[in-house]
Amino acid sequence: MLPEVTAVRYVTPLREGGSLPGIVEADDLGTYVMKFTGAGQGRKTLVAEVVCGQLGRRLGLRVPDLVRIQLDPVIGLSEPDQEVQELLKASGGLNLGMDYLPGSLGFDPLAFAVGSAEAGHVVWFDALIGNVDRSWRNPNLLVWHGRLWLIDHGATMIWHHSWRGLEAAAAKPYDASDHALAPFAPDVAAAAEALAPRITEELLTEVVADIPDEWLVDEPGFDGPAAVRRAYVEVLLERAATVGEKITVGERAGKGPSQAPDWLRVWVDGKAGT
Ligand SMILES: Nc1ncnc2c1ncn2[C@@H]1O[C@H](COP(=O)(O)OP(=O)(O)O)[C@@H](O)[C@H]1O
Ligand SMILES: [Mg+2]
Repeated sequence: MLPEVTAVRYVTPLREGGSLPGIVEADDLGTYVMKFTGAGQGRKTLVAEVVCGQLGRRLGLRVPDLVRIQLDPVIGLSEPDQEVQELLKASGGLNLGMDYLPGSLGFDPLAFAVGSAEAGHVVWFDALIGNVDRSWRNPNLLVWHGRLWLIDHGATMIWHHSWRGLEAAAAKPYDASDHALAPFAPDVAAAAEALAPRITEELLTEVVADIPDEWLVDEPGFDGPAAVRRAYVEVLLERAATVGEKITVGERAGKGPSQAPDWLRVWVDGKAGT
């Protein structure tokens, strides 16, 4: 089970993404990015964070530690922002926390180079979980102490929104043309060879055990949390076997960030007027 803490102070909202996560301090003196059960996207987003975060870390990727956070909405009473007030009011009880990485920077492909082996691991992992939220427009990658960290796995595993067509979901190809790490020649073949054999039933069973029961009860079409956990294991296990052959890292269609404006290229290339 994930460790459990209690929020003692709401510090500030993070307005970059869409779900309005907030920074909170907890009774273990830790600072966390809190993802709220009352947010528009609902508890499925939090389940996805748990499954992908715990799985990614086991595969050797850097994902901040996750905790369960108990929230008494009373800590938000002095919050002047109406939207934040509403969110806290709607999120009493169990929420998800991610260790806050102080001083981390948003990943910028012009300022931080990633090796093709590491890029391959991240792209293969994103293909496995069907992550549609790691594009160059919105990388959901942080650089902290000179290393790449993965955040925001809420928009993954689209199949868990309906649980229909699971065979097709397990076989669905992954287009990584827009992926934030596509410019770094991701070696997906090497990643598949290294990572696919590590996705075993035992490993996945361990991972899904960390999903709080509260977020799995009353799932339509399932006979309780154990059956839902089993479904996550089955799709991911099947997907892991073949997804490596179904990743496209083609030419990016739109204008990507590597096309720096001229005034910036002066600094990047170190020669004026290019
Ligand atoms: N663990 C963390 N440490 C530091 N900053 C974070 C962390 N998690 C998220 N952030 C910051 O908060 C922003 C929003 O968080 P994110 O998980 O991407 O939520 P959203 O669903 O709103 O996109 C991120 O883009 C990043 O700048
Ligand atoms: Mg985000």
